[in-house]
Amino acid sequence: MKLTLKIWRQKNASDKGAFVTYPIDGISTDMSFLEMMDVLNEELAVKGEDPVHFDHDCREGICGMCSLYINGHPHGPKQTTTCQLHMRSFSDGDTITIEPWRAAAFPVVKDLVVDRGSFDRIIQAGGYVSVNTGGVPDANEIPIPKRIADEAFDSATCIGCGACVAACKNASAMLFTSAKISQLAMLPQGQVERMSRAEKMVAQMDAEGFGACTNTGACEAECPKGISLTNIARMNREYFSASVKSENV
Ligand code: SF4
Ligand code: FES
Repeated sequence: MKLTLKIWRQKNASDKGAFVTYPIDGISTDMSFLEMMDVLNEELAVKGEDPVHFDHDCREGICGMCSLYINGHPHGPKQTTTCQLHMRSFSDGDTITIEPWRAAAFPVVKDLVVDRGSFDRIIQAGGYVSVNTGGVPDANEIPIPKRIADEAFDSATCIGCGACVAACKNASAMLFTSAKISQLAMLPQGQVERMSRAEKMVAQMDAEGFGACTNTGACEAECPKGISLTNIARMNREYFSASVKSENV
C-alpha cells in the first residue's frame, strides 16, 4: 500500500506544533498500525531525521499505552486499541491524519506522546483497597454472586488508555473514573473505603481539569474495551450517597 501520513509534530510541551506530511510506500495490509509507524521511523532514522515519538508497550491491547488519534477517532476507525488496529482497515492511496490525544489534562510531551499522569493521580486518590484481603485462596473463599463478579470484571477491563477523554467534547474522564470506582464498589473487598473513594476520586478528577460529562456517549462508542455508560450512572449514585453521608460536610 502507498499512503500519505499527516502527522502532528511538536518538539516539546511549549512548542506550537504543526502537521508534517510523509509519503510512505510498501506497507503490508497485515502490518499493525504501530508497525507501519515503525517503518516510517526507520526511514526517518536512515535519513538522519528525528523519528516520530509515540507511546506503546505491550502491543497486545492490554497496557493502554498506545494513544493515537487517527482520522478523527481515538485509536482509529475500529473499536480497538491502536496496537491492535491493522492496515487492512485502510485502502491503498489513503491519507491518514495522526494526532495526539487532545485534552488540557493530557499535555503533549513530544509529537504524539501525552502525559497521562492525571489518570495515575486519580487512582492514587482512591482507586485501591487498603484492607488486607489475604492470599488468593483467602480471597476466593469470599462468596460473590456470579452476576456481580462478572459486572465488576467488566469494569476492571478498563486499561486506562484515555480514549474516552480524547473522544469527549469536554475532555471528560468520567468513563475511566467510573470504571475504576465501580470495579471496587461492587465487591466486598471494596466496601470499607467505598464512600471516601468516590468523593476523593471525583475531587481529583475535577482538580486535574477534566470536563463534565456531555451525555453524548462518545466515550462508550470509542472505548476499545466496551466500558459501559452504566458505570457513570453508578459513579453518580456512589458520589451522591457519599455526599449525603460524608464525614467531610
Ligand atoms: S474507559 Fe475505555 S477508553 Fe476510557 S480509559 Fe478505560 S479502556 Fe480507555
Ligand atoms: S501498546 Fe499496550 S494496549 Fe496498545
